[in-house]
Amino acid sequence: MPRGLIIYNKKENEITDYSVLRLLESARSKNIDLSILTPEQFELVVTRSDRNSILVDDKTTLLPDFILPRMGSSTSFYALSVIRQLEHCGVYSCNSASAIQNVKDKLLMHQILAYSRLPTPKTMLAKFPVDISVVKREIGVPLIIKNVTGTQGRGVYLCESEEKFSDIMELIYANNENANIIIQEFIETSYGKDLRVFVIGGKVVGCMQRIAKSGFKANFSIGADVQPFELTPEAEWIATEAARLLNLDVAGVDLLFGEDGKYLICEANSSPQFHGLENVVGQRIADDILEYVLVKIGMK
Ligand SMILES: Nc1ncnc2c1ncn2[C@@H]1O[C@H](COP(=O)(O)OP(=O)(O)OP(=O)(O)O)[C@@H](O)[C@H]1O
Ligand SMILES: [Mg+2]
Repeated sequence: MPRGLIIYNKKENEITDYSVLRLLESARSKNIDLSILTPEQFELVVTRSDRNSILVDDKTTLLPDFILPRMGSSTSFYALSVIRQLEHCGVYSCNSASAIQNVKDKLLMHQILAYSRLPTPKTMLAKFPVDISVVKREIGVPLIIKNVTGTQGRGVYLCESEEKFSDIMELIYANNENANIIIQEFIETSYGKDLRVFVIGGKVVGCMQRIAKSGFKANFSIGADVQPFELTPEAEWIATEAARLLNLDVAGVDLLFGEDGKYLICEANSSPQFHGLENVVGQRIADDILEYVLVKIGMK
């Protein structure tokens, strides 16, 4: 029987997250032994001997066949180290520590994509104190301000005037001189809507449009409506190429609607939620993820 671990910030009896619960349910139906551990339950001992076991809750435990890290942008340094350690011992991680890192830092993510010529909104890293004239020239107003590390829509702000931008930058600087903030071109044609493309192993397994009930942010976690969307070949290429370049085996790629029917990559998520998507395409995304993992570990 294949054995897997979900690495998550909450313990098994505290889980309310739809996607994690669905993965557990799907694993039961496929006879996969899948359980949940928090990164802190692992003891990280680096030694050149013993590559067959790990210390969990201070007890020697056999290595699993695979792990599913589900912490997304809140993956801590400790959690990344645990994932890396397991990878070094030969455990398949879906996604890998390096892929999680590629998207955890939104600037790095845009750098990787833009340098490979994929379409992304023009993005710059704030340098404090901010030179407003440079930002106006390079990005223009209105513009978007984002935390470098994502927060499910809570760290994203639309700034409609130069005065507001200047005030906010002063406020951020006064609170934290070392704040990592990105400033990004606002894609007006995508106001309140975007596309979520779910990619597994280089293949699109589902796609939906998200429509905000109010405001410009189309996150499902903050209440956007979801509906089916017929994927165009262009959107499919962009999403699968993004997942490939970022090294993501499982990816939730968010696309913005640009001018003339063009698409731009808003972001890619390394542990995408699929509650909204299963509402649209049916309850099969958890199964698809596990089927893919079984292939990767040679059990299918
Ligand atoms: N440059 C942009 N132009 C127009 N709309 C944008 C832009 N960037 C983000 N948005 C809107 O804001 C939403 C949230 O932005 P984004 O996905 O970057 O952050 P997040 O969801 O908070 O990050 P994470 O998923 O990592 O927690 C997007 O789904 C999109 O609707
Ligand atoms: Mg997002």
